[in-house]
Amino acid sequence: MNAASTAVPVIAIDGPSASGKGTIAQRVAEALGFHYLDSGALYRLVALAALRSGVALEDETAVSDLAKQLDVRFCVGRILYNNHIVTDDIRSEICGMGASRVALLPGVRQALLLRQQAFRQAPGLVAEGRDMGTVVFPDAMLKVFLTASAEVRAERRYKQLKEKGIDANMRALLRELHERDQRDSARSVAPLQMAVDARELDSTGIGIDEIVRQVLDWYRQNAARVAGSER
Ligand code: DC
Repeated sequence: MNAASTAVPVIAIDGPSASGKGTIAQRVAEALGFHYLDSGALYRLVALAALRSGVALEDETAVSDLAKQLDVRFCVGRILYNNHIVTDDIRSEICGMGASRVALLPGVRQALLLRQQAFRQAPGLVAEGRDMGTVVFPDAMLKVFLTASAEVRAERRYKQLKEKGIDANMRALLRELHERDQRDSARSVAPLQMAVDARELDSTGIGIDEIVRQVLDWYRQNAARVAGSER
């Protein structure tokens, strides 16, 4: 990273599965005219690539090679892998669980690091995931750790799946969420944890508009403080 790119402001939004990070990050990016990075999509794409090419999800060398060579393009509202639209494919529970497994591999995380940092472009970036504030953008202008109770998160996922016409079972979803949380938090490399300088926001029972407003307020406060100290 050069000095010019580190001057581009980043808002890092981390948190567990289905905490609402995606919706909030996109709304904040839209409000500020910033770029948006869905880092989970990259891990999901690596899982998809491994599943499609018959590579075992534990084979660190082979999966890391896939991560390095990943031919992916993020277009408006669409994700292309090898020139095919995979926007919905990577949202499946199989890709979600697969992503959580390949995310354990240090070689994969290393391969995706520069790719994620390359999204930092003027006028700014809103990046969401598990380690945006701790590892990928440690100098982010604002770090938010978004949480919600497991029950609320399972309900949100249930609704999302039903809306897409995908059959879902609440108890199974809750069990999978606990499993994923456990794996994401317990791994030795870049585990899901709140950065020491992050602001925690529990979205249980709070509407999306209010959360977006809060994140924007925090960002403006921090930006004003930085501008004041540079004067
Ligand atoms: O946010 P998501 O559910 O799309 O992420 C899918 C998986 O990818 C998640 O279980 C853990 C992993 N992940 C990660 O390890 N680090 C990130 N920055 C983003 C996602």
